[in-house]
Amino acid sequence: MDKPKEIRGKFFFLFLATFIFLLCLAVRTPRTYGSVPQPRRALDACPSRTSSETITPLNNTKHLLVSAYMDRREAGSDMRIIGIFKRDSIRPLHCVFCCAGRLSSTTPGTIMQHSDRFGFPYATTDVMCRIPRDCNATHVDLLTQPGRVRPLHQSWLPIRNQKTNEKKKTEEFQFNFTVCISNLFGDYNNVLQVAQSLEMYRLLGVDRVVIYNTSCGPDLDRLLRGYVQEGFVEMVPWPIDRHLNPSRGWLFSQSGGDVHYFGQLTTLNECVYRSMERSRYVLLNDIDEIIMPYRHDNLTAMMDALQRQHPHEGVFLIENHTFPKKPFEESKWGPLPRWRGVPGFNILERVYREEPDRSIYHPHKMIVQPRAVQQTSVHEVLKAFGPAFKVPPDVCRTIHSPISTPTERPLEQLHVDTRLRDFTEGLLPGVDAVLRRAGLLTSERQR
Ligand SMILES: *[C@@H]1O[C@H](CO)[C@@H](O)[C@H](O)[C@H]1NC(C)=O
Ligand SMILES: *[C@@H]1O[C@H](CO)[C@@H](O)[C@H](O)[C@H]1NC(C)=O
Ligand SMILES: *[C@@H]1O[C@H](CO)[C@@H](O)[C@H](O)[C@H]1NC(C)=O
Ligand SMILES: *[C@@H]1O[C@H](CO)[C@@H](O)[C@H](O)[C@H]1NC(C)=O
Ligand SMILES: *[C@@H]1O[C@H](CO)[C@@H](O)[C@H](O)[C@H]1NC(C)=O
Ligand SMILES: *[C@@H]1O[C@H](CO)[C@@H](O)[C@H](O)[C@H]1NC(C)=O
Repeated sequence: MDKPKEIRGKFFFLFLATFIFLLCLAVRTPRTYGSVPQPRRALDACPSRTSSETITPLNNTKHLLVSAYMDRREAGSDMRIIGIFKRDSIRPLHCVFCCAGRLSSTTPGTIMQHSDRFGFPYATTDVMCRIPRDCNATHVDLLTQPGRVRPLHQSWLPIRNQKTNEKKKTEEFQFNFTVCISNLFGDYNNVLQVAQSLEMYRLLGVDRVVIYNTSCGPDLDRLLRGYVQEGFVEMVPWPIDRHLNPSRGWLFSQSGGDVHYFGQLTTLNECVYRSMERSRYVLLNDIDEIIMPYRHDNLTAMMDALQRQHPHEGVFLIENHTFPKKPFEESKWGPLPRWRGVPGFNILERVYREEPDRSIYHPHKMIVQPRAVQQTSVHEVLKAFGPAFKVPPDVCRTIHSPISTPTERPLEQLHVDTRLRDFTEGLLPGVDAVLRRAGLLTSERQR
């Protein structure tokens, strides 16, 4: 190879490289905008990529974003982004919007960490934002620096509840009662109890059950799929274990981990906002609990009565009562249906109730009007509009049938409480039907 040719080759290569570099620059530059809205161009179009995940990592931070909701209940902000933030690395954030296909200028976000975090490094956190004027916002994302919008790198969250602020009459809600089950995890496979609880909710007037699902056992999976198809249950995928090391306990000092109980505090809030536009009431209880009216036939009749007496309350606290496993005498309480081979246990055999020790802290579960709640925890709301009412236990109790009760009390310290069995007649056909649908009735499996 002679020298001039080699040099020419090098020049040509250099020229080509420069040309390609400039070309790239020309293509890239329009993607980075300052805060001034630009005329519409192909690269300005948004959203280019929307997040279809329920948990979206926020680029360049350790935080996770969950969902975005319109919320104009407080002066100074238009919307709320719910997230799980690493508490020791919280820095200012800026909101950028997609306004019907066009990028907006950025606005500063107001970061509000929830006060209940039980010592964990990650906490439920809201970012409140103003939407710029002249923007019909459809999507939002957060930036660590104002003005550094890179449309192709944003993970846009859709903004939901666009109509929450319209006043609604009772009969205009899609649902009267929604139950929020904050977390399903591990290989939980207590099919019989879950089927009984869900059918009980239905009898009590519940229209929708929202379940946040990290994982579950194979039979429960089948049972729940049937419910999803029918439309009674809404499963929300909750792969928190892919992002964090979730704790199985509620207190950091006892169980360690990144976040309280698989992110329960976040899913409860997410569920309240998810239900805000469509449900009159939301019940916040666990999967092994039933919020049970004792004087009324169903939740509708009870809440109509309670709300008449307490028109300004939007939060109703229901005392938790434990029903431990005790020997069940069929001769005394009537025969139990046999769902042989169905995994899980029969809550109808739990006819003994512990009297709570009211001298120590006694936890509640809740029925809330979602529009009255800003931030919630498990046993109380953290921020709400209006007062809370403690419902007397003779009106309503939370029936808690745990799998195991740590301390067994002698029979004479227990109350007989057969309230659940008042519903047996309606309950049995319903439970049979859903077990059959899932192919879980042993006798029929063999046929
Ligand atoms: C926003 O939407 C409203 C009603 O849909 C419309 O009248 C208005 O022109 C829109 N504004 C912008 C800036 O797109
Ligand atoms: C995060 O930002 C980097 C560059 O800063 C980009 O390459 C990547 O696509 C972004 N990821 C998401 C999920 O937006
Ligand atoms: C909710 O309850 C009201 C009566 O309190 C009733 O008129 C309405 O139809 C119910 N809505 C649903 C979705 O069941
Ligand atoms: C609730 O109970 C009342 C009577 O106590 C009854 O009229 C009403 O139909 C019931 N509603 C539902 C949703 O079951
Ligand atoms: C619950 O989540 C697990 C893990 O992603 C999945 O395998 C299972 O099918 C889900 N169950 C339902 C009913 O959504
Ligand atoms: C519910 O209340 C019982 C007392 O009735 C108590 O022993 C139990 O720890 C409580 N459970 C929860 C989950 O708070």
